[in-house]
Amino acid sequence: MNVSSVIKEHLDDEQFRILNGIATIAVDFGTGCYLVGGAVRDVLKGRGSGDLDIMVEHRFSEIADAVAEQLGGTVLKVTRFGTAALDIGAIHLDISTARCETYEESGDLPKVFPGTLEQDLARRDFTINAMAISLSRDSFGDLIDHHDGMSDLENGVVRVLHNQSFQDDATRILRAIRFAGREGYQLDEYTERLIRRDVRYLETVSGERIRHEIERIFLEPTSSAMLQVANDLKILQAIHPALAFEYSIVAPITCDFDDLNLIFYGLITRQASPEDVEPIITRLMLDSVRAAFVNDIVSIRAIVPSLRLSKFNSETYYLLEGLQPLALDAYATFTDDAEAVKRIRLYLDELRCVRPSITGESLLAEGVPEGPWIGQLLKSLLAARLDGDISSYEEEVEFVRRTLWGGP
Ligand code: CTP
Repeated sequence: MNVSSVIKEHLDDEQFRILNGIATIAVDFGTGCYLVGGAVRDVLKGRGSGDLDIMVEHRFSEIADAVAEQLGGTVLKVTRFGTAALDIGAIHLDISTARCETYEESGDLPKVFPGTLEQDLARRDFTINAMAISLSRDSFGDLIDHHDGMSDLENGVVRVLHNQSFQDDATRILRAIRFAGREGYQLDEYTERLIRRDVRYLETVSGERIRHEIERIFLEPTSSAMLQVANDLKILQAIHPALAFEYSIVAPITCDFDDLNLIFYGLITRQASPEDVEPIITRLMLDSVRAAFVNDIVSIRAIVPSLRLSKFNSETYYLLEGLQPLALDAYATFTDDAEAVKRIRLYLDELRCVRPSITGESLLAEGVPEGPWIGQLLKSLLAARLDGDISSYEEEVEFVRRTLWGGP
C-alpha cells in the first residue's frame, strides 16, 4: 500500500519538503529511511502531526548533521542510544538508528542494540504505533505494517504487540488509556486483560516517568474520561493506593496550562488523607509547586468538617487563610458539599480581601509600644471587621482604644 498522497495531504508543506530532503540525503548515505511512530499513526488517521520521527538503518548522527546543514536546521542533541534531535525552523524531528531493545528488569530503561527495521517496529508499544512509511527514493510512501496496525487504526483498537509489553515498560499502561481515550478507541480485550494482570508493574517505574505520562493525560481534551478508566482499571491505585478519580464530579475546566496541571493533581488526590500526602509526593516526585497544591487540597478536605460548623466569618477566614486560592477554587468547583462551597466562595470573593485601615505601623506611630500584643490586636481587629462588629475607621479607633485601655 502506498500512502504518499496521504502524507502530502496531511503534513504541511514544510514538513513534506523536509521529508523529501531527508530522502535525498539518505540516498547519499546508502541507507533506508522511514517515517515512524506517532506521525505515521496521525497521518494515516487523516490528521496533521507535530513532531516527526525518522528512522535510518545506520549513520544516524552523520545524517542528522547533513540534514541540519542542507535543510537549514540545528542539531540539538545526540544520544548514545542512537537518536539525534533537530529543529528545522518550527519543526522538530528525531532521527534514530533502527534498534532492538532488551529489558533486564521490569521498569529499567532498556538495553539498546542496533537492529533492523522489523526489530525496531516490533519493540514498540501498540500496533497503531508500530508502522513505518518508507521515505526512500524508490519506495517513497510505501507503508510497512507487520503488526496489522492499519486495521487496528481503522477499527479503533489499541493492542499490544506481545504479552510482556507492560512488564517490560509499565508506562505503556498509561499510554494505552491515553491513546484509547484520545480517539474513542477500545482497548483490545487481550490488552485489557494484560493491563489488569500487569498493573502492579507500575511499582517498578520511576516517579519521573510516571509523572511524565500522567501529565500527558492531563493535557488531553478528554483527560477526565481517561482518568476514569485509569481509576476503574486500578491503574491510579497501583501508582499509590490513595489516588482516585471520579468522573461525575468533574465540571468543565477552563484555565491555563499550568493551572490545569495542578487541578488534575488536586482531582486525583482529593480523597487522600493527610498521611498519604508525603508518600504521594515522593512517589510522583512532585516539585514544590505541585506538592504545595496537593497539600492544600488535602488540607482543605480535612478542614471542611470544621468549616461547615463555623458560625462566624472570622472562623472561616482563619480556617482558610494561607491556602492557595486556586486550590480553594478547585475544591469548591468539584465538591457537592453546598455548605463548604458557600463558605469557601465567601472567603474567596469577600473575606480574604478584608483589611482593617489601622496597621501595625499606624499603631506604633500612635505610641503603642512594640510587642506581641500588636499582632494580637490586629488579629482581633480583623476578626471584628470580618464579623461586621465594626465597619469604619472611627469604629476601629474606638475598638483599639477599648481593647488597649478598657472602658466603655
Ligand atoms: N514508544 C514505545 N513505548 C513507549 C514510548 C514510545 O514503543 N513507552 C514508541 C511508539 O512507537 C511511539 C513512539 O515511540 O509511537 C514515539 O513515542 P512518543 O513520542 O512518546 O509518542 P507518540 O506516539 O508520538 O504520541 P503523541 O501523539 O502522544 O506524541
